[in-house]
Amino acid sequence: MSAGAAVLCGLGTWLPPNAVTNDDLARELDTSDEWIRSRTGIGTRYVADPSTATSDLAVEAGRRALKSAGTESVDAVVLATTTPDRLCPATAPLVAAQLGLGTVAAFDVGAVCTGFLYALAAGAGLIAAGTSDSVLVIGADMYSGILDPADRSTRAIFGDGAGAVVLRSGDAGEPGALGRPVLGSDGTGSDLISVRSGGSREPLRAHTADEADPYFRMAGKAVFRNAVERMAEVSLTAAQRAGWEIGDIDRLIAHQANLRILHATADRMRLPRHRCPVHLDRVGNTAAASIPLALSHAVTTGELLPGHRTVLTAFGGGLTWGACTLRWPALTPA
Ligand code: UT7
Repeated sequence: MSAGAAVLCGLGTWLPPNAVTNDDLARELDTSDEWIRSRTGIGTRYVADPSTATSDLAVEAGRRALKSAGTESVDAVVLATTTPDRLCPATAPLVAAQLGLGTVAAFDVGAVCTGFLYALAAGAGLIAAGTSDSVLVIGADMYSGILDPADRSTRAIFGDGAGAVVLRSGDAGEPGALGRPVLGSDGTGSDLISVRSGGSREPLRAHTADEADPYFRMAGKAVFRNAVERMAEVSLTAAQRAGWEIGDIDRLIAHQANLRILHATADRMRLPRHRCPVHLDRVGNTAAASIPLALSHAVTTGELLPGHRTVLTAFGGGLTWGACTLRWPALTPA
């Protein structure tokens, strides 16, 4: 097994079949299509059936990524998720088994909406270290299971979904070769996005049902500001590491949280907005699945073409953020 650069060579995605429109939400909550569209840009999101678990979504996306890469085997599975099937064990080994990948290394990465980029960096690291020759990197989340049914601000934004890529060992000059990922965190902001109860800090058994809060909470405004600043900064750092000027960036594929965040990030970087493709109008914020879903959509619409100098960037709970560059390879998403 030879150590080398990690080359992206397959892309697969999966969305659950049940689409929920803004009007559907407005029938249940005090909100409107007008509010959601104007404040977030989101029109529809997909919600998994309650009998579904994150591993089911991850397996579907993983299977498609393997097909897109034209392979049936990899040496490792890295799964980014905030909504694992269970607190213990990790979900990745189950996904690897269900994909028929045998006894390969498999682990979860938790970096909330930055999870896919952290998992991508971990996968590239396995290849650089010579531990693995090929890695399936999956981002899968089912926020429908952790949102407060009465919280209009989070229900309007988040949707379920999964996306995956295959990395293989290759040459740093090849299309698809990942640049050096740039990652960061600031734990002083850990309360801005959190699920308060159910972990070791506040085990559910320590509370009466009234005191516990098992739901995902987000301080939207503070997160918004941080997301724009961090994604712009980390994207520029990643581009610099690749030797690119701003004008060299053909596409910025950014975590799809809010259209206003995408626009503000592009503006801050002085990047024309059309170089930052939008997918959230169709799927909402799919957390760890957001970047591979946006990549697949941009390829399908012709917005992302082979050879495009591409920056991937995300921001999420932790707080965490990251970016990575690549020249987009010729591949067919599945
Ligand atoms: O993926 C990880 C990173 N996440 C993000 O990047 C999300 C970042 N934040 C956001 O996208 C925005 O902050 C939100 C979309 C979550 C909220 O938009 P906002 O413009 O920051 O609104 P706000 O939270 O300041 O709320 C303004 C008002 C409030 O009412 P009052 O208190 O002024 O009466 C909210 O209760 O809007 C209300 N509101 C809604 N109204 C109708 C919040 N959600 C809704 C809703 N429909 N769905």
